[in-house]
Amino acid sequence: MTDLNVDWRIKLGSKTDYGIGSIGCGGIVQYAHMPAYKKAGFNTVAAYDLKREVAQNVANEYSIPNVYDTVEELLADPAVDVVDIAVPPWVQLEIVEKVVAAGKHMLCQKPLALEFSEALKIVELAENGGLKQAVNQQMRWDAGIAASRDLITRDCIGIPTAAQIEVSIETPWHMWPWLAAAPRLEVNYHSIHYIDAMRSLFGEPEWVTSRHTRYAKQGEVQGETKTITILDYADGLQAMVAVNHYDIHGKQYATFAFNGTQGAIEGTIGLMYNYPNGRPDTLVYRKKYDHPIHIEMDEMWIPDAFIGPMACLMEAIEKDETPCANTRDNLNTLRIVEAAYLSAQENRSVRPEEIG
Ligand SMILES: NC(=O)c1ccc[n+]([C@@H]2O[C@H](COP(=O)([O-])OP(=O)(O)OC[C@H]3O[C@@H](n4cnc5c(N)ncnc54)[C@H](O)[C@@H]3O)[C@@H](O)[C@H]2O)c1
Repeated sequence: MTDLNVDWRIKLGSKTDYGIGSIGCGGIVQYAHMPAYKKAGFNTVAAYDLKREVAQNVANEYSIPNVYDTVEELLADPAVDVVDIAVPPWVQLEIVEKVVAAGKHMLCQKPLALEFSEALKIVELAENGGLKQAVNQQMRWDAGIAASRDLITRDCIGIPTAAQIEVSIETPWHMWPWLAAAPRLEVNYHSIHYIDAMRSLFGEPEWVTSRHTRYAKQGEVQGETKTITILDYADGLQAMVAVNHYDIHGKQYATFAFNGTQGAIEGTIGLMYNYPNGRPDTLVYRKKYDHPIHIEMDEMWIPDAFIGPMACLMEAIEKDETPCANTRDNLNTLRIVEAAYLSAQENRSVRPEEIG
């Protein structure tokens, strides 16, 4: 039952038929971008991947009319209004340079880059070119997080005092062979989503403290796979993101809990249960002496939340405004990520402003 009328659904602008050109058609495009765009009724008109057969397979499955042999050919297609970039982060800057030169709006993948300075260049390129640039940091649109944001914004929990996102899973690394080789793994590619979700709920923390470790038998997986990151806010709110990718024998869970002076929210991130099949998110809202209110949700992180950043970019183009998921704002998420690595490396708390 939901007599609270919690507003968690993604809203589309009135114009959603912008032609999308997809650059890089690998795993995430196949199991998240394209199913989301199909569900939203978006119009993907062109595809390009270094491996032509990868783009061709996606085009066949999603009835995309044109597959190109080069980035330049895709960018020269007048039917392409927005470019959906989903290449590895170390390739993203060179693609953005070409997209900006072609004068097209774009959705970038997260993390924007592996170095903060490179991410900044990506942002400045689009700003100097007068182009809309959004980032696919889509957990903000996940049903459970969006519903929590609605409740928090409506003052249903009062002053936020404690926040936790805790994920303990067995990650199928074989789905991302290139990730196993990444020297910076967990925070850079996974906790980054929860950190951004915390920012979307509570704004900017004052201090970041992070501890990272590895599983005793993680084999060829190079980077950190178990981390705890604490965000301390000026008003006393403490937010914790704790992730373990090697919960092999335990019960495995992916939960969020947001406490305040007037109420509390708790829920589950459904996607992480039996990933990648998942189940819808769950959310319970309660006040101390009230009965719990279960908010029913029928969506989950993948693919549904992936509609959000593209919808936000399209709306920004339509209204000629800055996208809500703009990359300039995302630099603050990257500052926290960088601060987390510095904190772990130097055994100290770090202010995000130290970065960049
Ligand atoms: N937003 C999310 O939740 C999320 C989830 C997973 C991955 N990602 C990001 O998406 C990106 C892609 O990840 P993935 O898991 O799909 O990887 P992937 O390796 O499965 O796919 C990447 C694709 O890019 C292609 N490619 C590489 N260089 C290219 C170039 N110069 N031009 C065109 N195509 C090129 C590759 O051939 C490959 O098909 C990464 O940046 C990753 O961090 C984001």
